[in-house]
Order: sequence, then structure tokens, then C-alpha cells
Amino acid sequence: MALRLNSTVVLPSHRIPFKHRTFRSPRVSMASTLHSISTDTGNTKKPYCPPREVHVQVTHSMSPQKIEIFKSLEGWAEDNVLVHLKPVEKCWQPQDFLPEPESDGFYEQVKELRERAKEIPDDYFVVLVGDMITEEALPTYQTMLNTLDGVRDETGASLTSWAIWTRAWTAEENRHGDLLNKYLYLSGRVDMKQIEKTIQYLIGSGMDPKTENNPYLGFIYTSFQERATFISHGNTARLAKDHGDLKLAQICGTIAADEKRHETAYTKIVEKLFEIDPDATVMSLADMMKKKISMPAHLMYDGKDDNLFDHFSAVAQRLGVYTAKDYADILEFLVGRWKIENMTGLSGEGRRAQEFVCGLPQRIRRLEERAQGRAKELSPVPFSWVFDRSIKI
Ligand SMILES: [Fe+2]
Ligand SMILES: [Fe+2]
Repeated sequence: MALRLNSTVVLPSHRIPFKHRTFRSPRVSMASTLHSISTDTGNTKKPYCPPREVHVQVTHSMSPQKIEIFKSLEGWAEDNVLVHLKPVEKCWQPQDFLPEPESDGFYEQVKELRERAKEIPDDYFVVLVGDMITEEALPTYQTMLNTLDGVRDETGASLTSWAIWTRAWTAEENRHGDLLNKYLYLSGRVDMKQIEKTIQYLIGSGMDPKTENNPYLGFIYTSFQERATFISHGNTARLAKDHGDLKLAQICGTIAADEKRHETAYTKIVEKLFEIDPDATVMSLADMMKKKISMPAHLMYDGKDDNLFDHFSAVAQRLGVYTAKDYADILEFLVGRWKIENMTGLSGEGRRAQEFVCGLPQRIRRLEERAQGRAKELSPVPFSWVFDRSIKI
């Protein structure tokens, strides 16, 4: 049974996304209250998909006339966006960082990898697995980009700059999940079958980024996310180094560098939108931030833990891999990157959106500090990814 209140539909669910817990909005609070009385059907009736909560999904919120903007930017995108792709022949491949199966030294290289992995604690692996699973749900992200009006790949082999970007971006990203997956498999430290189940569940669930087929919202979302993954992989690199595994540090650092390049491309697109349509763009940014940027893997499930994403996020927060402070920092960075504070000539609504986004990083930080002050010590949680061993959250 689905329950409806205001614009929120609560599907049978026993999970509240972490983002809703951290920065609770009135609308979300109501959803969460309803959530507690919603019927729990578990995952037995729909074994292909975990139980979850989604909001009413707004579609096609960009007016059809604005599609022309993206058509007219075709040539610009070719000169300014596609240049941030790397030619395949110049790209690293997962095999560059992994034991060589054709070589006599293969077993020795695997042994060395496993020796290094022994020195790394379980909580680090939980975060690395979560990051890997996030990367592995790539089909969902390509789908998401192809929901966007005016820029989608209409045929699967479309020759528009937007479509060329999306396919080549996907192809670059595909190396991230491949590399982390193979590394984790060889490490022997994690329960691969549980991880593979989580990936299957996650791709089956999709994601709910609230981008409304609207490329203004979509490219703001991807700008934010590329920076979030840049930060997160950068931090797993730093921690791997601290644990003495320089090869793993190099793996995570190399992936982080790709994310940075993608961030540059997406933020450039939004910068262009700010230049040609500042009112709509600043209002789109305010809209995304009011809805909150959900993490791409927010619907993750492993068949066991109904709060898996919350638990994974809590470990990432505790280890400093991706934190609420990072969320505020990313927004502050983007506000600076797009020079929003100095924008002039906006409409009244545009000015209100400008004021809102410029003040938001500080507000998020204050809320977070207060939440930290109230936070209670939570008991450790078993993670199926590390054979149900308990991890402090
Ligand atoms: Fe990635
Ligand atoms: Fe990325």
C-alpha cells in the first residue's frame, strides 16, 4: 500500500535515506513519520528489488523552448567539453595496476597484493567496497544522463556532442568499477558474493536524483557528484598510504584524477548555462540544494541490512572519507567556481535563490555541528561485505 502526504509518496519501506536524517526538512520529516506506520512487506514479494522510499517523480520540468539552448550549444560543447575526454590510447586501464595473469610472476604478485591488504582494517574495506559498488552501478548513471531533455543520446550511437560525451564518459567511468572490483577480489578480504548481490540489487533499484529530465538540474547534479567522488577516492588513497599500501593508494588516486577531469567538464557546462541563462541556472541550483543532492548509491541493499546505505555512509563519515562537511565544502566550492556571489542583473526570484545558495554552506555546517553535539554513540553494525564482522559506525 502506498501512502500519500503532500507531494511525498511513501512506498512500503523500512529505510530512511541517510541524507534525510542528517538535514531533515519538514516534508521529509512527515515522510519519515509515515514511514514508521507504512506496511512492511520486506523484500520477499519483490525479490528483484529492495524495499525503498521514493518521492513523486517530477518529469520534464524544463520548458520545451529551452531545448533549443542545448541544440545551439552543440558546437560549443564539441570545443569545450569533449576536449576533457582522454583518447583511449592515452588512458590507463585496470590491467596497468593489477597482477599480470599471463606472467610467470602472477602468483607472486597476487601474494604481495594480499600481504599488503592484510595490514588494512575492515572499516577501510567497507568504505572501499561501498565506493566500488557505487562505481559498478554505472548503467544507472548512463541511463540518468539519457533521461535529460535536449542532450540525451537519441539512438545509442548519436553523433551530437552531448551524446558523444555521455558514451565516452561512461566508457571512462567503466574502468573505475572494473579496477576496484578486481583489486577487491584478489585481496581476499571481502565477501565477493555479498558484494555482487549488492551490485545486482542496486542496478535493479536505479536512483532517484530528482533531476526531472532537466539538463540544468542534471548537470548541477553531475558537477556535485564528480567532485564528491573526487574527494572520496582521494581520501581512500590517502588512507591506503597511511596503511602502507602504496599500490592501492595509486589505484584510488588515479581514479580520483579521472573524477576531477569529469568535474571540470560538468562545471564548465553549468558555467556556460550561468552565462547564457543566469536566472534559470541559479534557481536550478537552489532547487537541487533544497531537494538535497542524493548519493548515487542511496538505494543500496545487500539482501540483509535494511539500512545499508546509512551504515556505509556512517563509516565513510567516521573515517573522514566522505563527510557532511565535505557536502558543505562542495557547495561552497561550486558557488565560488560559478562566481555566484558576484552575479548581478537577476530577477527577484533569482536574487533570492542566489542568497539562499550563498548562505547554505554555513547553515549546513552549523546544523551539522549541532547534530554532532547531539549524536549518541551507536553500537557496531555487522557488514555482510566483510563476512558479517561488526564495524563501528
Ligand atoms: Fe567514477
Ligand atoms: Fe565520476
